[in-house]
Amino acid sequence: METDFMTLTRFMLEEQGRCDGATGEMTQLLNAICTAVKAVSSAVRKAGMAKLYGIAGSQNTTGDEQKKLDVLANDVFINMIKSSFTACALVSEENENVILVDVDKAGKYIVTFDPLDGSSNIDCLVSIGSIFGIWKKEHTGNATEADCLQPGSKMVAAGYALFGSATAMVISTGCGVNEFMLDPAIGEFVLTDRSIMMKTRGKIFSINEGYAQYWDDATKEYIHSKKFPDDGKTPYGARYIGSMVADMHRTIKYGGIFLYPSTSKTPSGKLRLQYESNPMAFLVEQAGGMATTGETRILDLVPKGIHDRCPVVMGSYHDVKEYLNCRAKHAK
Ligand code: AHM
Ligand code: MG
Repeated sequence: METDFMTLTRFMLEEQGRCDGATGEMTQLLNAICTAVKAVSSAVRKAGMAKLYGIAGSQNTTGDEQKKLDVLANDVFINMIKSSFTACALVSEENENVILVDVDKAGKYIVTFDPLDGSSNIDCLVSIGSIFGIWKKEHTGNATEADCLQPGSKMVAAGYALFGSATAMVISTGCGVNEFMLDPAIGEFVLTDRSIMMKTRGKIFSINEGYAQYWDDATKEYIHSKKFPDDGKTPYGARYIGSMVADMHRTIKYGGIFLYPSTSKTPSGKLRLQYESNPMAFLVEQAGGMATTGETRILDLVPKGIHDRCPVVMGSYHDVKEYLNCRAKHAK
């Protein structure tokens, strides 16, 4: 058995040691998030079973009402982050308003998260995930909602957890992207891929083709060109899971392009800027890829509200560039 494994905590402590003026607060916050992810992972792994038991009645064996998985994940994230003494304001997909941490427990970080993304995939046991973004409060006063409306370019860290055939965490604190896998034997996340760099071009496109009639002409032409390429080139493969974390994890690991674009029905797309698009855009750029709305770099958007949406096109640098060229041609 390996005796000198690099756990997520050890990795963070080493990164902290290399960083001048680091107080350890980021390590503490990521540890709290890591604990939340372990708890959610355990609940996700039991969800199928809980459902079977549910046939006999909607209560579990101890007579408690089964808590819905997304509600449970949200509670765990909020409780773990609040009690880490590192955060002052939280934004969750599940909460309409900003959650302000009591002043006596507050730290300097703003944390946004989608505790369990891919809700339509929960009940059929397809991969789901959690996404988080971290910013710093830029003043010494108490936090307000305005602190949660900073652009992605000011993020200090981001990451996601994927509950797939294994549980992975992919994290960046602004010095590259690293992947950790949960080793159930020791209950720890262990480093499995260091300094991930995305392929500059992939072979896969990922988009919900059911909405093709609502796409603009540039998107229609781009996707058509992937299916019917010129010069006898091989067409791209199509993959769409419908869980952003799973679709983006594949895109980061294998290369390619993921799109949830603006459509005539949903001009701002579907995905939420502060806890879906920005954290993923931060990771993609850190891994050498590109993330745009089709018009603007995602990390440059200035949110007006904590639940703003934005169109998303991200992935391998040359694939996204090609999409943008296609748009530029149509704009003329
Ligand atoms: P959710 O937050 O309600 O789960 O929705 C977000 C999810 C993403 O994970 C995924 O990329 C997208 O919705 C899929 O949407 P669609 O079913 O419209 O293709
Ligand atoms: Mg979501």
